[in-house]
Amino acid sequence: MKLNQPDLQAALLCGEAVIFDEIDSTNEYLLREYKHLAAGSVCAAEHQTAGRGRRGRSWYSGKNQNLCFSLLWRYSADEVRQVSALSLVVALVLAESFTELGISDIQIKWPNDVYYQGKKLGGILIESRFENNDYYLVIGIGLNLSMDQVDLNVVNQPYADLSAYHLERNQLLQRIVPQLQKNLKIYPLVGFENYVERWQSYDLFYGKPVKLLAGDTEIHGISQGINDKGELLLEQTGKINAYAIGEMSLRAQ
Ligand code: BTN
Repeated sequence: MKLNQPDLQAALLCGEAVIFDEIDSTNEYLLREYKHLAAGSVCAAEHQTAGRGRRGRSWYSGKNQNLCFSLLWRYSADEVRQVSALSLVVALVLAESFTELGISDIQIKWPNDVYYQGKKLGGILIESRFENNDYYLVIGIGLNLSMDQVDLNVVNQPYADLSAYHLERNQLLQRIVPQLQKNLKIYPLVGFENYVERWQSYDLFYGKPVKLLAGDTEIHGISQGINDKGELLLEQTGKINAYAIGEMSLRAQ
């Protein structure tokens, strides 16, 4: 079934629902339009012609089969200082939504990749603009629901999909988006301490040897979860060191 605007609009706690058959990128759309849309607005598309991922990569979205959407939120400069682990909170909301639907074997790879049975199921790309002392965040989410016509020129890592579960995309979107809106609202008030334990219960690499790639540098250690800032804890020669969220990528060693 195609994405349905009235049903998504009815599910939102705030903002507008905008749905396209085809667009360059739902993130790019909200970055163009943020001045004209209320916080909480969502843009979803059946197909992205220029979907983008983290670290300058492209993001494959297929046609009418996966979920690609972006959510606009606004934080004051004070609030933005309280939400440095936002992408971990977003990943947790996604993971918990899948768990509630009865899907087991969901994990999160620090900081924010959602995994199913050890392979990537979805990703999050957060981009921002600063205007009149407010930060406008665009939270882009791509979820693989059915990957039967994959463009292998774009997808260059092992991936998972949820085709075995026959999820209805509209229902999934209507479940996830209000949860995201609720948590975007409360996170700066309650702090990341309220999410740490729940996040850790999905940690893909807890207790395993990993390497952290930051540019040309490789950092090795045993993953010990995260601290209450969402930083990755690595045990290295008997000491625990914390690594901040940045343009880093975590791999099994
Ligand atoms: C990643 O590299 O893991 C992040 C992928 C994020 C993809 C989503 S799809 C919807 C939104 N629009 C984009 O262009 N990218 C994000």
